[in-house]
Amino acid sequence: MMEKASIQSQAGYGAWLNHLPLAEGAYREHAASWTKAVVAEGTELCVLTALSELEDGIAKLTGKRPEKDIPQNGSRYIAIGTFAGSAAAKETFSREEQAEVAAEGFRIRTSGRSIVIAGASAQGVLYGAFHLLRLISSGASLDELNLLENPVNGIRMINQWDNIDGSIERGYAGNSIFYANDDIVDDLTRVRDYARMLASVGLNAISINNVNAHRYETMFITERFLPKVARVAETFRKYGIKTFLSINFAAPIEVGGLETADPLEASVQEWWKERAAEIYRYIPDFGGFLVKADSENRPGPFTYDRDHADGANMLADALRPFGGVVIWRCFVYNCKQDWRDRKTDRARAAYDHFTPLDGRFKDNVILQVKNGPMDFQVREPLSPLFGAMPNTNMTIEFQITQEYTGQQRHLCYLVPQWKEALEFETYARGEGSTVKRVADGTLFGRSYGGFAAVSNIGDDANWTGHPLAQANLYGYGRLAWNPDLTSEGIAAEWITQTFGSNEQVLETVSGMLMESWSIYESYTAPLGVGWMVTPHYHYGPDVDGYEYSKWGTYHFADLHGIGVDRTVKSGTGYTAQYQGSNAEVYESLERTPDELLLFFHHVPYTHVLKSGKTVIQHIYDTRFEGAERAAGLTAKWNSLEGLIEPSIFEEGKQRFLIQEEHAQHWRDVLNTYFFRKSGLPDALGRTIY
Ligand code: GCU
Repeated sequence: MMEKASIQSQAGYGAWLNHLPLAEGAYREHAASWTKAVVAEGTELCVLTALSELEDGIAKLTGKRPEKDIPQNGSRYIAIGTFAGSAAAKETFSREEQAEVAAEGFRIRTSGRSIVIAGASAQGVLYGAFHLLRLISSGASLDELNLLENPVNGIRMINQWDNIDGSIERGYAGNSIFYANDDIVDDLTRVRDYARMLASVGLNAISINNVNAHRYETMFITERFLPKVARVAETFRKYGIKTFLSINFAAPIEVGGLETADPLEASVQEWWKERAAEIYRYIPDFGGFLVKADSENRPGPFTYDRDHADGANMLADALRPFGGVVIWRCFVYNCKQDWRDRKTDRARAAYDHFTPLDGRFKDNVILQVKNGPMDFQVREPLSPLFGAMPNTNMTIEFQITQEYTGQQRHLCYLVPQWKEALEFETYARGEGSTVKRVADGTLFGRSYGGFAAVSNIGDDANWTGHPLAQANLYGYGRLAWNPDLTSEGIAAEWITQTFGSNEQVLETVSGMLMESWSIYESYTAPLGVGWMVTPHYHYGPDVDGYEYSKWGTYHFADLHGIGVDRTVKSGTGYTAQYQGSNAEVYESLERTPDELLLFFHHVPYTHVLKSGKTVIQHIYDTRFEGAERAAGLTAKWNSLEGLIEPSIFEEGKQRFLIQEEHAQHWRDVLNTYFFRKSGLPDALGRTIY
């Protein structure tokens, strides 16, 4: 009988860390000539990790495993270490040059017969090592390297929404790699390999359980689970990644046996302090807590008539002696709304709840704000909270897992969407007050800032289900490191490292990635209105699925028109939460950009867009085009047969067929719905069922 190949040996598992052998030829010779040895000075954990990553990576790329000592025959080599621990690092870079390297940054320089990778910390050295491997994969000349890289964001975090039963909330790539059968797994091989992937793109923090912390996960902060949590943390530590836990605000009651979880009760405060002390006994560098409170039926301070600052500060006090932080999510809204109530507006909720608390959060509290005011839709405006809380630490939360963007059956490269969010001008401090500067903390001079994102991986052999969905995880990390990288540049890096340097593959896949967001948008909910998905599952069209539900996610389509009036003049007043000209632009029907029109305004189907088309004709046209463009993706992928590893090619092919078919389904369901609602025919007379 044939043995089933180990998951590690399956195509796709190596992701962008395949370190595909360089083609025979001049460049391979060049790379080999510079990498005869890797000499590490220092014994810090991440320096050792950097050393082994370089050894393994170079062996795969060049076919030759480097030696560990400086070659005596005059050959060239790589030297790595921190400024404090390595003579090579200290000698190669002047004091001034060393001072320019941030805590987690690095310098790489070709100097004489060595390439020196140096950091102020071991973590920096590790990022430098991965960077050098990336350069070699992309065929860069090593003769005159001289670069300085500092991460723009301090917090570069991943949130797992994994549950202890092995399921993953909103996971589309199999089960959890962390949990099975109501326990943390013993074999952490995959967790280690995941840590490598995260560190290779510069990520430095992870929360390992779902923000909805259920019964057993609530006990992660107790002795029952801490030894195993500590093993996970140890695995991530080797890769410079801090471990966080999502906690349950009601834990003092549920596992502590207290009668209350009131944050102002001394016994509750004491309980959390004891928990913190115990956690740090197991995990000395524990990152802290991620908290979803008073959100979607989760417990929180509201139960006790306290506010979010009271709740977050209590936890912050418990963690402060150990250097931990509280990451408090702002995804707080009324999820028991009545569709008849036209004044309550979910989009307003986070701003309304949190801005009055600006300045009240302790310095080790960080608010985590979703990019949009609703919930990771294919198109949303930016959350007006960005720029509205100058005295509060903040991170931006993205969703890598494609909950509302095709669930990793459809291709949707999200980096362009995130870029657009980061470049958004808030006007909080005049021109140049972009969201990325709010997120990184520089706009308001905050002590903490950065990115968080919901992971898209599971135990599928290729991690992400759709083979091209790996690009989103890769791109997220690269963007967290440097938001100024371009979407195309990131795509190109990812493609070359994943599939090799074939020009046709690069051009085709890059083109597919770059048009994928627009394609997905063009057959799903139109003009920024969002939703229209099957309730709960959030996949596939159901135009009225959420229309009469309690979730506050309406489009208000009737025979006259569609859209949500969020203006001050006649709607929910949400537009006033924006600053500067944003408030005016969104308040104005004429000035609101087409792609967000229905998010801000309720209009007749005959309303004429800036594009010159009526809303109804736009809906028909984009649905028809969207389905066609989705079919185009299948054709483009199929043109790569023979150029992409067969099993990956096949996985992609199956998914593009599904996308093609489901895009047609979206087209037909939406077109029929709007034709029946409006009674207005398609100007081109195409088939509408
Ligand atoms: C969405 C998602 C939930 C998730 C929630 C959150 O609503 O559908 O599964 O728990 O976001 O971000 O907390």
